[in-house]
Amino acid sequence: MKHVLPYQDIEIGKKEQVTQMFNNIAVKYDALNTFFTLGIDNHWRRMVIKELSTFNPKYILDIATGTCELAMRMTELQPREITGVDISNEMLLEGDKKIRKKGLDHIINLKLGDGEKLPVPYNYYDAATIGFGIRNFEHPEIGLREVYKALKPGGACVILELSKPENFPVKQFHNFYSKRIMPFCAKVVSNDVNAYKYLPKSVNAFIYGKEMLTLLEKVGFVQTRLKEMTYGIASIYIGIKPK
Ligand SMILES: C[S@@+](CC[C@H](N)C(=O)[O-])C[C@H]1O[C@@H](n2cnc3c(N)ncnc32)[C@H](O)[C@@H]1O
Repeated sequence: MKHVLPYQDIEIGKKEQVTQMFNNIAVKYDALNTFFTLGIDNHWRRMVIKELSTFNPKYILDIATGTCELAMRMTELQPREITGVDISNEMLLEGDKKIRKKGLDHIINLKLGDGEKLPVPYNYYDAATIGFGIRNFEHPEIGLREVYKALKPGGACVILELSKPENFPVKQFHNFYSKRIMPFCAKVVSNDVNAYKYLPKSVNAFIYGKEMLTLLEKVGFVQTRLKEMTYGIASIYIGIKPK
């Protein structure tokens, strides 16, 4: 796995750069997400909820919760508790505003923290999710080991991440869109062009498909499986912590 950095010309590590980048784009994050994915990201999050529903989770951990889009949807599953963790304070502040506005603050609690050193109890959660987050980790394997520890035996890890379509013509269109159209539009609508140049580069450098399942298995998860969505532009990966 190659390391791709949002800002090539500053000498701080990936974790600090990623935190800075999400702090910069937090206020516009939701709107830009919808703009760049034409709203398909919401369909992908709905698919995560569908997968989660089969586990009937009561205690859920949402790592890299950001502005809480996924965490808020999870309330449909009527869990007792959702804990959202994120390394970017600004993203959490945006999430917190939305949670309070919808009166969901009695179910969702937010913690500032690193997914590679989770500020949560171990063997506690029925399910843990990471939505579009693991690709940004400095050490994804360490992050997954933390997820494993946080889950109860029998608990489910559900990861939603961008992946790479492999078939003509979606592959060619996806390349053109992410390398040309997205950075061009980002210049016009975003306050951080580097963030939207980093996005396609980080997808390109990150593992996907069977390689991701192999990593989950290396960490100890069993019954791993993946579900490709929208011709492979995004994928859901599932693994279970053995009982
Ligand atoms: C693309 S956003 C996804 C937010 C949300 N899950 C969603 O579905 O919209 C990625 C999030 O991952 C967070 N993140 C990146 N590295 C992290 C880490 N090491 N620990 C916790 N959060 C991290 C970022 O701060 C950002 O909020």
